[in-house]
Amino acid sequence: MLRIASPAAMQELGLVWRREGLTVGLVPTMGYWHEGHLSLMRWAREHCDVLVASIFVNPTQFGPGEDLENYPSDLERDSELAREAGVDALFTPVRDDMYAPDHGTWVTVPELTTNLCGRSRPIHFRGVATVVCKLFNLVQPTFAVFGEKDWQQLAVIRKMTRELDIPVRIEGRPIMREADGLAMSSRNVYLTPEERAVAPHIRRGLLLLEDLVRSGQTDADALRAAVGKYYEAHIPMGRLDYLELVDPATIETVERVRDDVLAAVALRLGKARLIDNIHVAFER
Ligand code: PAJ
Repeated sequence: MLRIASPAAMQELGLVWRREGLTVGLVPTMGYWHEGHLSLMRWAREHCDVLVASIFVNPTQFGPGEDLENYPSDLERDSELAREAGVDALFTPVRDDMYAPDHGTWVTVPELTTNLCGRSRPIHFRGVATVVCKLFNLVQPTFAVFGEKDWQQLAVIRKMTRELDIPVRIEGRPIMREADGLAMSSRNVYLTPEERAVAPHIRRGLLLLEDLVRSGQTDADALRAAVGKYYEAHIPMGRLDYLELVDPATIETVERVRDDVLAAVALRLGKARLIDNIHVAFER
């Protein structure tokens, strides 16, 4: 496995692979891998000649007071996991090589980023879109794989790629969970044992919402109220950031569940801000 830190070296290699006509798969990450990250790599491994994974804790997607400086990392462990997952090249650039001090070019996707996470993290998706665009230009992958846990992020990347004519196919993969249903996240390490014990209720609240839809409740306000109550009862120390029902493509809030609606939640639990989502549909 190659370990590449220099963006220029990465780009040169990407060019060589492209010239050779190889299919290159890219899995962008911020490191501290868990099964969610590895599931993306395993899927990619099956579909490409050359597998690239990147680890870069991207400063521009963290707002003031967020966890940039404390973001967990274990590069040695990740490297070992990368080797096991069949990664051919692990791209680990450093901040100063990715952003010059006078960096001032941004990719923004305003339509998709005013709701959900965009509301409490106003510059987050600008940072994500910009760094993913840079990673695409450096690696020049045939396709890139992202997790559906970050559904809004996936929607932003799809729209950016389409509208800027970036020749990369975007693949979305399902949410990987712990045995008790908690969505895997690098940020789960922030949880105290008490917080970890109640965290699975985030998912259970979404399953309750799904049950309510199945039994005929389609009014978004009523659904939000019921799940909000569930969270208050089962995660009393949690602070709900949002619980929204949105159109999965436009990320616009819907008032009623019809075909395919995404129920998305963000909840602060101690030092962690955890997100999860579920697709629900009302079928007569
Ligand atoms: P990070 O949080 O490290 O996640 C890297 C990829 O893993 C993302 O596509 C994310 O959706 C996926 N992922 C995380 N948890 C998952 C889970 N439980 N199941 C399935 N996939 C999961 O997302 C980022 O990094 C960054 O914003 C990035 C795209 C790398 C840009 O900086």
